[in-house]
Amino acid sequence: MSKIINRRDFLKKSALTLTILPTLYQKTAASDRIRIAHIGLGGMGNNHMNWFAALPEAEIVALCDVDQKHLNGTLKTLEKIQQETKVTGYKDFRHILDRQDIDAITCATPDHWHAQIATLAFQAGKDVYGEKPLSYDIGEGQMMLENLNNYNRVFQLGTQIHAGDNYHRVVEIIQSGVLGKIHTVRLWKTGFSPGLGFPESQPVPDHLDWDMWLGAAPFVEYVPERCHKTYRYFLDYSGGVYADFWCHIADIVFWALQPKGLKKISAKGEAPKGIADAPKWLDAVFEFDDLKLFWTTQPPDVPGAAKRGIGAFFEGQNGTLICDYETREITINGETLSDIKEIPVSIERSPGHQQNFLDSIKSRKQPESNLEYVRKMTLPMHLGLISWRLNREIKWDTLAETCVGDEEANQLLHRRYREKWNLI
Ligand SMILES: NC(=O)c1ccc[n+]([C@@H]2O[C@H](COP(=O)([O-])OP(=O)(O)OC[C@H]3O[C@@H](n4cnc5c(N)ncnc54)[C@H](O)[C@@H]3O)[C@@H](O)[C@H]2O)c1
Repeated sequence: MSKIINRRDFLKKSALTLTILPTLYQKTAASDRIRIAHIGLGGMGNNHMNWFAALPEAEIVALCDVDQKHLNGTLKTLEKIQQETKVTGYKDFRHILDRQDIDAITCATPDHWHAQIATLAFQAGKDVYGEKPLSYDIGEGQMMLENLNNYNRVFQLGTQIHAGDNYHRVVEIIQSGVLGKIHTVRLWKTGFSPGLGFPESQPVPDHLDWDMWLGAAPFVEYVPERCHKTYRYFLDYSGGVYADFWCHIADIVFWALQPKGLKKISAKGEAPKGIADAPKWLDAVFEFDDLKLFWTTQPPDVPGAAKRGIGAFFEGQNGTLICDYETREITINGETLSDIKEIPVSIERSPGHQQNFLDSIKSRKQPESNLEYVRKMTLPMHLGLISWRLNREIKWDTLAETCVGDEEANQLLHRRYREKWNLI
């Protein structure tokens, strides 16, 4: 922590240099950098490594993966980018948490590991940049929030689109009231989760610790399709395309409207053919106090939706707004515009999602996609999955965070961990 305070002083002293030479890539003095370890080095973990390696205030000091091949590959790439720093590779993330010289971790493991790794990191005094979805289930999200607060840590969810200008502007437009009261929002993401056929189990490759990859999930023999990249199509680890994309697009609704009083959730869908069991497609309705939120796999039948693979359509008393990550169209009185100049820019723009995390580590203020916010935003996604799994409407008590009169549904709020990997 003393390093962080040193760096803050350093930044104050060097503010002039940074103002004059804003585009020059300069690493902060080594003793003042935030020391980071990346855990989970597949597709997204390598993005984490590249993003943080490019930030002057970050120094990557450790990497971790249960697959030695992934670990070796990322170590090699990092050696070329960050030549002067010694980086240690680990298979077991607990060695990273034991190191006193590491300030923060990022976690890009499959979803079923997110909560235990983040919680243990909080307990070890580390700040965390964790991937979406926040957790495997609702109980894990509660555990993370409690530990974040108890250990006074900082957490940023990897919903990097949150940092973009388009979402900031959409929030300004919605919150200006120009569309009147928003009563309905339609979210969609096209594309089916695949069933992955009926492959046989295989011997575990020498470079992979399959038992640790499975962690708290039920033990099954190794089938490559259950592992890297396609794990997300299995309910033991994730929830298919729906769970994969929910956070990115639901973010704009929760940011702009902060819907309250979720009461009823009703989902339907289809199981794929094959060994994968996450929903092939899922359509759901979420009833809040004064908002109806729809999720569909096909775009809704509204202007501008068909040309967007993912999107949000806000319906207000005076007009509508459709958006995706980068674009938006506002329609009022039959006229469609991309912006309304009279609405002032009122929300401070992000310095970048990863930089915002580093800034929060220094200031000890929670970042833009902080845990308290993203937990509320992720929770309905889990309830949609539960409704689909049980094939019935769920009634939700927001204060107690329980399903009303439905013990079977309550059992799915937090799964029982495999004992060997119950680390909390
Ligand atoms: N923010 C985004 O836009 C975005 C995009 C893609 C993926 N993601 C998220 O990133 C996460 C990873 O996705 P991916 O596509 O990179 O998956 P992946 O399968 O390519 O990589 C996951 C890696 O984690 C490793 N791993 C598993 N358990 C581990 C453990 N206990 N300790 C250390 N390493 C472990 C695996 O061996 C693998 O290398 C997911 O949660 C996903 O939702 C986010």
